[in-house]
Amino acid sequence: MKKARTVLREGELADLESMVKIDETLFPPEISYDPETFLFYLLHPSSDVILAEINGEVAGFAIVTLSEPGDCQLVTIDVAKKMQRLGIGASLLKAAHQRAGSRGAKSVSLQVDTNSTDAIRFYERAGYEKKGPLPNYYRNLSDAWEMVIKL
Ligand SMILES: CC(C)(COP(=O)(O)OP(=O)(O)OC[C@H]1O[C@@H](n2cnc3c(N)ncnc32)[C@H](O)[C@@H]1OP(=O)(O)O)[C@@H](O)C(=O)NCCC(=O)NCCS
Repeated sequence: MKKARTVLREGELADLESMVKIDETLFPPEISYDPETFLFYLLHPSSDVILAEINGEVAGFAIVTLSEPGDCQLVTIDVAKKMQRLGIGASLLKAAHQRAGSRGAKSVSLQVDTNSTDAIRFYERAGYEKKGPLPNYYRNLSDAWEMVIKL
């Protein structure tokens, strides 16, 4: 399918509702983020919320935060279901890596549900490597992979 023409911009408080709605459709309640968490990252000075828009509609977003000197955490990448496989996730990931680099990060780490095989493929395709399993990582006690990429 043809790659979508995506506009990336910084997330704003007014985007909170769209972010919550997308996240709720992608993750079960035990894994999805609550609005307070998104609000925290929208306001946090060491975090970047990058939004992808298509025709003025929020298609997805990425959140990256400086977790320790030299390393950023990719908190999440969400792409609305009907907008997936159009290259939006890859654009968001590239922008997140750029923001992380501009904050002095040499690597980006993330945690992903071991059952999310599509997301794991997406990250591996982008160059992430599995670092180690994190047993019972989520509220529903499912396991996560820690994955990392050197910038
Ligand atoms: C994972 C996710 C962010 C990918 O976003 P996307 O916009 O669909 O991804 P892209 O179109 O940029 O894909 C880039 C490459 O990743 C790989 N990829 C992406 N989705 C894939 C899938 N469902 N199955 C296999 N490979 C996939 C492919 O190699 C793809 O390149 P190609 O389309 O040229 O083959 C999106 O599917 C999503 O939001 N999933 C649900 C939420 C989630 O699990 N997020 C991760 C939280 S840790």
